Amino acid sequence: MEAAFGLWLVLLGVSHGVQTSCDGRQDGAQCYGALGGTVVLQLTDDASEIFKFQWSNKTTRILSWRNTKMVSNLIEDRSSFTPSNGTFRINDLSRTDGGDYTLTMFDSTGKIIETRALQLTIQGVETSCDGRQDGAQCYGALGGTVVLQLMDDASEIFRFLWSNKKTILSWRDNKIVSNQIGNRSSFTPSNGTFMINDLSRTDGGDYTLIMFDSDGKPAEQRALQLTIQAPVSSVLLDSECLSQGEMRVSCSSEGGDSPQYSWTLDGQTLTDAQLLSGSNESENITLRQDVSGQLVCSVRNHISSVSKEETISTCGFIFIACILSNGTHVSQWVLEASNTLCIKPTTASTTTTEGKEPSLTVSNSSSTNVTDHSLLICGLRAAVVILILIGIAVYFAWKKKKYKIAEGSAVPRKMDYRDDSALMIEVRSSASKL
Ligand SMILES: *[C@@H]1O[C@H](CO)[C@@H](O)[C@H](O)[C@H]1NC(C)=O
Ligand SMILES: *[C@@H]1O[C@H](CO)[C@@H](O)[C@H](O)[C@H]1NC(C)=O
Ligand SMILES: *[C@@H]1O[C@H](CO)[C@@H](O)[C@H](O)[C@H]1NC(C)=O
Ligand SMILES: *[C@@H]1O[C@H](CO)[C@@H](O)[C@H](O)[C@H]1NC(C)=O
Repeated sequence: MEAAFGLWLVLLGVSHGVQTSCDGRQDGAQCYGALGGTVVLQLTDDASEIFKFQWSNKTTRILSWRNTKMVSNLIEDRSSFTPSNGTFRINDLSRTDGGDYTLTMFDSTGKIIETRALQLTIQGVETSCDGRQDGAQCYGALGGTVVLQLMDDASEIFRFLWSNKKTILSWRDNKIVSNQIGNRSSFTPSNGTFMINDLSRTDGGDYTLIMFDSDGKPAEQRALQLTIQAPVSSVLLDSECLSQGEMRVSCSSEGGDSPQYSWTLDGQTLTDAQLLSGSNESENITLRQDVSGQLVCSVRNHISSVSKEETISTCGFIFIACILSNGTHVSQWVLEASNTLCIKPTTASTTTTEGKEPSLTVSNSSSTNVTDHSLLICGLRAAVVILILIGIAVYFAWKKKKYKIAEGSAVPRKMDYRDDSALMIEVRSSASKL
């Protein structure tokens, strides 16, 4: 369903940042890279099959390939292109690497044969957490940065140690005595914040801050739990029609730890009335036959949130309910395009547009209503016709009587005869209209 969204993405906890991969062979691919990390973009299949191509962002040509050779690579020092599988690997990603790229392929006569767009988004997740309360629960993003507030002002504390299995940060007499991860962290004494960059899974765990007074006695102790999660980086929506016209929709996310799902339709949380299985928080859901609109799946964990939206239409099923000529009761969902049953009743299809599936009793009563209704109309028509016929009969009887009384009068009443014929035509046409 999402073929154009040719994206596959794997997050690997590599020591030097996060590595992501993305299939950019489809036009319009959306790719993600982590700040400071590596992205592997598949631009083509086998580059040797392409006479010439250029890969450029909005302003600059990055790669230029011609005659089985890379003519130029503007970021050669931190990237590599593998011709045999068409992948371009970029290391040490910075925010400026993000943007829109275009691959333009040419044939040997210099004519453009294809262009493909690729959007690269660089994410560097920074989280912060107030660790001044004992038992604080903090989250950091894999490859990202966390800012932990350990205290208000370190100058007010004579000595402290911040440790998990061993001491990480040691402070005494207004000085940092030691910082075991000093190459990727910084402590700001004036506001007591400790910032750790390039987070890896091993940074997760239970930390303890022990503060000592000037006598060297422990004055206070605080625990902090740090959990490192990989960001949710891509969301794919996949939908398929099931045999009874229900629609199964799967929301899959790649890379993220502990993903939590939520669904909305046209901006409203999905309700149980729209769902045949699953809930507004399921990964996979089955929508009722009559549900359509703008469907959004959001996937979040503590450090990231990504969503994907898609306009969905129904699977083309209608609910039919009627009694066939052989007496069989029919009430079911059928593919509208190939349906031959219950063609006449319109009440059944109006029922389907309501939220709830019409139950058997509801559909039975609605088909009975159809019968009652048409009987009533027939009866009314018959009554009207009979009344008109009686009226005509009475009129003629009265006329005949009048003529008998007027017999012998010298003036023939031609005009009256014309009036009579006009009246009869009028009666006939109004009767046939019924
Ligand atoms: C603490 O100070 C540092 C350095 O001035 C600053 O970057 C950071 O935003 C401050 N944090 C808080 C919570 O005030
Ligand atoms: C899902 O629905 C339940 C019950 O209707 C509601 O309490 C919950 O907040 C909803 N979840 C989301 C993510 O909207
Ligand atoms: C959702 O569906 C996918 C396949 O479409 C399956 O791999 C996954 O296990 C399902 N998840 C749940 C929670 O059933
Ligand atoms: C009635 O007609 C329908 C459709 O023509 C058929 O499928 C069904 O088997 C019939 N029922 C009986 C009881 O003959």
